Amino acid sequence: MQVATAQRWVQRWDAQQERYIPDREERFRVVIDVARAAVGTGAASVVDLGCGPGSLSARIAAALPRVNVVGVDADPLLLGLGAANTGPRVTLVEADLGYPSWPDRTGLVGPWDAAVSSTALHWLDPDSLAALYRTLAERLRPGGVFVNADNMGLGASTLDAIADGVREARTARVGSDRNEDWAEWWQALREDDELAPLVAARSDSAIANHTENELTVHEHADLLRAAGFAEAGPVWQFGDDHVLVGVR
Ligand SMILES: C[S@@+](CC[C@H](N)C(=O)[O-])C[C@H]1O[C@@H](n2cnc3c(N)ncnc32)[C@H](O)[C@@H]1O
Repeated sequence: MQVATAQRWVQRWDAQQERYIPDREERFRVVIDVARAAVGTGAASVVDLGCGPGSLSARIAAALPRVNVVGVDADPLLLGLGAANTGPRVTLVEADLGYPSWPDRTGLVGPWDAAVSSTALHWLDPDSLAALYRTLAERLRPGGVFVNADNMGLGASTLDAIADGVREARTARVGSDRNEDWAEWWQALREDDELAPLVAARSDSAIANHTENELTVHEHADLLRAAGFAEAGPVWQFGDDHVLVGVR
């Protein structure tokens, strides 16, 4: 696959994701600001959980010149697009985060300075997520952070309905409601002959059969504290879109 092809598909991916997350770029900047404060100025390691084609991994590497990023994802197709589109300080590895042994199986022993995630962990069932948070608490160094950018409900039906309306209004204001949607992106990608080997490599297990855990932002914070994080709470919010931080 040519680099230009991967770049084109990742750009299309980013636009497709903005259809659902109109402030995705600002949210990325907040994640990077939190990571920057935690990693300091020395060499540091950051793990990107459910990295997809590496949009956040690439932005972290570009913004933090002494950081090495390892992106972890279960989807070989998205990883393949990312591998052709990210720089030398980004490594992408294939693993299912639903299995607690994923760090050892991928050689990611730690300690890590930060772990980040964007629009991914809602795909893990609550027990798997609790296990993942325990793994992060074990592998992050003291003072390290976990930064999770995702839509997480507010835990009150009227507030959640208001948050949905706020997001829809924002999406219409910025115009990303006219962007290609998730199904259209995947359909178009399958019709690109250059990507046929990656399409063939794609596992359809955890990816195709995913469910939403529907945990609220408060439940995520509770799970982080139960896992061993000293502090946990949101530092940025727009509607139900949050950047939630856990401090080890
Ligand atoms: C909506 S995409 C977000 C990708 C990327 N973080 C971004 O913001 O563009 C969700 C990602 O989570 C990954 N994912 C879902 N369940 C997973 C699991 N159990 N293990 C590893 N990755 C998983 C998917 O393969 C997909 O790449």
